[in-house]
Amino acid sequence: MDGMSLTPEQEKLNALRNILPEAFCEGKIDWEKLKATLGGDINFSNERYVLNWAGKSDAFKILQTPTYKTLIPAKDESVNFDETNNIFIEGENLEVLKVLQKSYFGKVKMIYIDPPYNTGNDSFIYPDMFSESKADYEKRVGDKDEEGYMTKSSLKSPSLGGVSQAGWSKNSKENGQYHSNWLNMMMPRLYLAKNLLRQDGVIFVSFDDNEVHNLRLLMNEIFGEENFLGCLPTIMNLKGNNDQFGFSGTHEYTLVFLKDYNLGRIGEFKLDEIEIEKWEEDEYGLYKQGANLKSTGVNAPREKRPNLYFPIYVNGNVFSLENKDGFEEIFPTTNKQEMSWRWSKTKFQKEFFNVIISKNGNEYSIYKKQRPEINDLPSKKPKSIFYKPSYSSGNGTQELKNIFNERYFSNPKPINLVKDFIEIGTHPNDLILDFFSGSGTTAHSVMELNKEDGGNRKYICVQLPELCEEKSEAFKAGYKTIAEISKERIRRAGKKINDEIRLIIDDLRMKIKKLQSELPTEENQSEITSLQSQINNLQSQDLGFKVLKLEDSNFKQWQQIEGNDAQALAEQMKLFVDPVSESATIENMVYELLLKSGKDLNSKIFPSGGGEFGYLLLCD
Ligand SMILES: C[S@@+](CC[C@H](N)C(=O)[O-])C[C@H]1O[C@@H](n2cnc3c(N)ncnc32)[C@H](O)[C@@H]1O
Repeated sequence: MDGMSLTPEQEKLNALRNILPEAFCEGKIDWEKLKATLGGDINFSNERYVLNWAGKSDAFKILQTPTYKTLIPAKDESVNFDETNNIFIEGENLEVLKVLQKSYFGKVKMIYIDPPYNTGNDSFIYPDMFSESKADYEKRVGDKDEEGYMTKSSLKSPSLGGVSQAGWSKNSKENGQYHSNWLNMMMPRLYLAKNLLRQDGVIFVSFDDNEVHNLRLLMNEIFGEENFLGCLPTIMNLKGNNDQFGFSGTHEYTLVFLKDYNLGRIGEFKLDEIEIEKWEEDEYGLYKQGANLKSTGVNAPREKRPNLYFPIYVNGNVFSLENKDGFEEIFPTTNKQEMSWRWSKTKFQKEFFNVIISKNGNEYSIYKKQRPEINDLPSKKPKSIFYKPSYSSGNGTQELKNIFNERYFSNPKPINLVKDFIEIGTHPNDLILDFFSGSGTTAHSVMELNKEDGGNRKYICVQLPELCEEKSEAFKAGYKTIAEISKERIRRAGKKINDEIRLIIDDLRMKIKKLQSELPTEENQSEITSLQSQINNLQSQDLGFKVLKLEDSNFKQWQQIEGNDAQALAEQMKLFVDPVSESATIENMVYELLLKSGKDLNSKIFPSGGGEFGYLLLCD
């Protein structure tokens, strides 16, 4: 809304939209649809099932444009830089995904992303100024302020009247290309991300009603409809949230696609078999024994609840509220005290199928059948609805608050949710990628799950150094960017997990000591070996991470010279006497060479020889 009055033309368009909404697309009139609506003669020769939007072909061009960026190490911001296999990349993810193509092609087992939902309030970068030169685009995604922080204002570009105009800006619902902008942002990133997945890999994408329909079609196009595994309603707030879509919102979605359904499999949860065995089945479904219907406690004596004191007649596992031949009379009496039932007569009548009669010796007891609530019933196979109380969005917020004591980031995902996706999406030694890392929940969840199951999963997380709002608590506490919040969260979470691991190890050592003081049997020897191997495993947990930052190449780029400008050519030849840029360091060049030669960023690099850096040897 710009507060201006409508022109007569706009008024007519609005009137037309009121009677023919189907003839509009992204707020604009679609002439072909209008003709079809009014029964006009239209050409259907091009008809086919296709997802199309404004700027799609240009988004493909962006996808195919090579990058001249690289990653440089930031050792002082890392934890255990030389030993760790976890990576945090600070940078714009389209460029980062391009930079990673060679080294990580087909290496990632699972991708989890939680991108901007296109709520009308979120800002994101989308590479859709297709008329700009490559140099301008590079500048736009790489502009920094004097302290080296990427500036949002420099990312905001003037209106070009092209497909769409902004580089980084709020994509409001009034925007004429509201859906197209978002699709232009997502499409190239998903394409590049798919390349990084292993053939048996899987991708999980969190979403809500704003774009779930478009996302599914987009992913069908990129991953193939046959590789669709599920669109999981993911319950984030059973109580119900605001009613943005008319209903009080309880859920989001998680779209799951395999890279190749012939090779990929989704895993199962580890479950307590005893817990599964508690459930039985009758003609109304599954149940387990719930509360005893004889009430106890200070409010339960007969005199306090006289209506709930009445006889129930039982015979075997059948009950009646009327006296019948052969039926035994039961009152809610415990220890000779007259108490009350939890249910009224009417409720007993209504819920007759939810009553369990059990006899122990001469004593009858009456229990309620507890029917499963959503996801209550444990099962190894993940269900197509994702719900646990710990998935609540409030939990995600609280978990982050526990780390910082303040609310520095809105709507982080809860650790248990991401941990469960990782549990079913990976094996214990796999690599996980999140290129919309936000506050770093994925990195945190990988460390938690490894601690719990002794795994050795590794992560690559990517986060834009998006500036925090100046009035935010995070900014006031000195966190200039979301990437800084994310890195600090991972550092603190790593320390906390390390402390927890120490306690677990102390406990395991005590158990070993106790077993060693007992008579040595085959059984306790094998128990000691198993406990010792758990200790070794915990001691080798990787809680560090390498920080790498997206930067310009260390090597000068040859610029195409228009026309026959001999002087410009001579200048450029002079520049290339030394192709290494002035700001390059040997170490940074080594990382660029790792990436350009397709080597893992965790390759071991040994300094040798003399000089400040000497030269460095790479070993896989
Ligand atoms: C919804 S949040 C992710 C939250 C995360 N799952 C968590 O639990 O904290 C999306 C994040 O993507 C980041 N982002 C948006 N566009 C990006 C881009 N082009 N490159 C890298 N990160 C980007 C935003 O800064 C934001 O922090």
